[in-house]
Amino acid sequence: MSTHTLYSKDPGDPTWQVPATGSARFTWEYDDGRDRLLALYQKGKDKQWDGARRIDWDLEVDPYDPLGTPDEALTLYGTRHWGKLTEKDKGELRRHYASWQFSQFLHGEQGAMICAARIVESVPDMDAKFYSATQTMDEARHAEIYGRFLHEKVGMLYPINDSLQGLLGDTLRDSRWDMPYLGMQVLIEGLALAAFGMIRDSTDKPLPKQILAYVMQDEARHVAFGRMALRDHYKQLTDAELREREEFVIEGCHLMRDRLRGVEVLENFGVSTKEAEEYSEQSEFLHLFRKLLFSRIVPCVKDIGLWGERLQKAYVDMGVFEMGDSNLDLLMTQDEEIAERLDRERFAAEEAGRVAEVTDAIAEGGA
Ligand SMILES: [Fe+2]
Ligand SMILES: [Fe+2]
Repeated sequence: MSTHTLYSKDPGDPTWQVPATGSARFTWEYDDGRDRLLALYQKGKDKQWDGARRIDWDLEVDPYDPLGTPDEALTLYGTRHWGKLTEKDKGELRRHYASWQFSQFLHGEQGAMICAARIVESVPDMDAKFYSATQTMDEARHAEIYGRFLHEKVGMLYPINDSLQGLLGDTLRDSRWDMPYLGMQVLIEGLALAAFGMIRDSTDKPLPKQILAYVMQDEARHVAFGRMALRDHYKQLTDAELREREEFVIEGCHLMRDRLRGVEVLENFGVSTKEAEEYSEQSEFLHLFRKLLFSRIVPCVKDIGLWGERLQKAYVDMGVFEMGDSNLDLLMTQDEEIAERLDRERFAAEEAGRVAEVTDAIAEGGA
């Protein structure tokens, strides 16, 4: 079915064109890769998987409660609108929120695929080109999976959020080769990863849990790549150049915090924009959610060496400064372990069956 018929609102032109700037770079040096980057490339190859097979698409999903969202987590909860909602309305609201959220994931994943391809094109070193080629494939898989979930299980999509589109456009229009890393790998993916993690750890629905756990297993590599590449590069930049990057980060963080909160959903339920913004601002749940959204970005920014005074102050003002000390490596290791554990649990029964078969075969062979 054409996606167009599933959009909650007309997304406008069927394609969005962003004029490319900057050079495509070839290198004739094929043999001086950095060990850690080449090891990550190897891991990227080893850990490829097929979203059509690894995910159990037969699992049923209630489109009116795809994620098992509790009432308190809905922004309208406790407002004057809540009492007027019927159970059917509440189901619709849950469906719209899940659709809005996963649609932003989907559009973001397409953006990630395009940025990873851009990095293949523009980054000067072969080891980074190799790695980013595997990431391009990872992001294609993520876009495929989120798209399938929305088409088959939720039956509704939202257009891309204006601020997300704005940040993606700024990232892609910039001719400096490190900007797709900074805008996409650090900011947009950092934010997405935190949101994925919160849903993965709170949902009791098996299908979205699988999707998020497996996508996050890949993302752990992407973050590692961004950190490695930028840490090396930023050591060579001047103070002025570093400050420019910090400004970009500050602006991006403000934009994401203030605008990425699903006001579009409430507008579809007859709530005025102004009122919807107030509710999102006041909602205790969203307040915490917004703060946690930065749990992956802040330590990463600090780690790559963007930790000037202005940036620190911006994070103090946003109440997320102390997140700079959280252990990113540990979070990433946990993301990988959660996916592996889920696989073990799901396939333990199958494995037992296979072992029994082999044992039988050996017994027969020996007889
Ligand atoms: Fe992704
Ligand atoms: Fe990614």
